[in-house]
Amino acid sequence: MNTRRTFVKKSVLTAAVLSVAPLSSCVTISSTKAKVSMKSGQVGKALVLWYSQTGHTQRCGMVLAKELAQKGLVVESCDIRDFQKEQILNFDLLVLGAPVFYYDIPDYVKDFIKGLPDLNGVPVASYVTFGGPEGNQDNANYSILQLLSEKNGVPLAINSFRTLSSFPLAWSQDKVSEKTWNARYLPDENTFGEVRNYAGFIIDQVKENQPGVFVKKLTLRECSTFFGPEWWTKLLVKKHYIIKKNCVQCGECVEKCPVNAIDPAQYYVDTAACVLCFGCVNNCEYQAVHMEYSKETIIGFKQFLEQHDIKLYMPGELKV
Ligand SMILES: Cc1cc2nc3c(=O)[nH]c(=O)nc-3n(C[C@H](O)[C@H](O)[C@H](O)COP(=O)(O)O)c2cc1C
Ligand code: SF4
Ligand code: SF4
Repeated sequence: MNTRRTFVKKSVLTAAVLSVAPLSSCVTISSTKAKVSMKSGQVGKALVLWYSQTGHTQRCGMVLAKELAQKGLVVESCDIRDFQKEQILNFDLLVLGAPVFYYDIPDYVKDFIKGLPDLNGVPVASYVTFGGPEGNQDNANYSILQLLSEKNGVPLAINSFRTLSSFPLAWSQDKVSEKTWNARYLPDENTFGEVRNYAGFIIDQVKENQPGVFVKKLTLRECSTFFGPEWWTKLLVKKHYIIKKNCVQCGECVEKCPVNAIDPAQYYVDTAACVLCFGCVNNCEYQAVHMEYSKETIIGFKQFLEQHDIKLYMPGELKV
């Protein structure tokens, strides 16, 4: 996890890299491939896991799981926060999804993968959701597969699905960036169609025993990850606390906080521990999480949707 000290170190390192290396998305920084042979060419039981703060990655994961089941697999799926790691040995295919945060996957997801037992050649595929359009999504996918292959998972495939950004600095009280506004109905039926196709592609890759080689490219956004963008952003967050009169103690912010930085009973936010994922402000239905960025009050994702009367698309298979 980034700390202020590593953030300073990385900043210096990146400045050094930038001074000698021309920035080009053609330059490969590293690559990953299977370290062991694939467990089997047959898939009986698949596991789809995701980490999701505002629901986009979850909905994609659920559609993917339904599609794999539709194709005859026994499928289990859930958020990584609800998953017992040792259960992973019961499956012969793993698909793992994460949102892109600060041009990479969240540290919480990295730590989850690092804590998994040896995967013994289980085929693995990844997907990310991103608010982009240039969100460094391929490299974020690479982060997932690279870590899974360290655990002896066999990397098969990656995919990225564009969504309406849940990054609250993409909008303010009276303005929404054009790129964000244009994506206000994403993920839509086309996106979920891509998700369904991806499920079929993953199965074909397993049947044909087709592990892949995946690369991390040098991009401008990849370089910016060395600077610790969350820490830079945090410098401009001056106030972050719980508004006592609004808080109903529902616990949603506690569930979403990846670093246990919130204690609603005490109306307390540990701002030093906060990694600025915006999970609390994005999910509080009672506007009880106050945050100020550059002296302006931040509007969370749910409030933003309400304000603009945006209804997120629900694919057919997820409608009750
Ligand atoms: C803290 C934070 C950082 C983000 N950083 C990026 C980013 O670097 N690139 C990008 O394309 N989208 C970024 N986004 C947008 C999310 O990747 C996107 O909305 C994603 O679909 C959210 O997934 P979820 O609803 O499953 O949490 C960010 C969102 C948040 C909250
Ligand atoms: S989500 Fe909002 S209302 Fe619920 S405990 Fe947290 S601050 Fe209070
Ligand atoms: S306090 Fe809020 S913004 Fe900070 S890490 Fe926890 S949920 Fe994310």
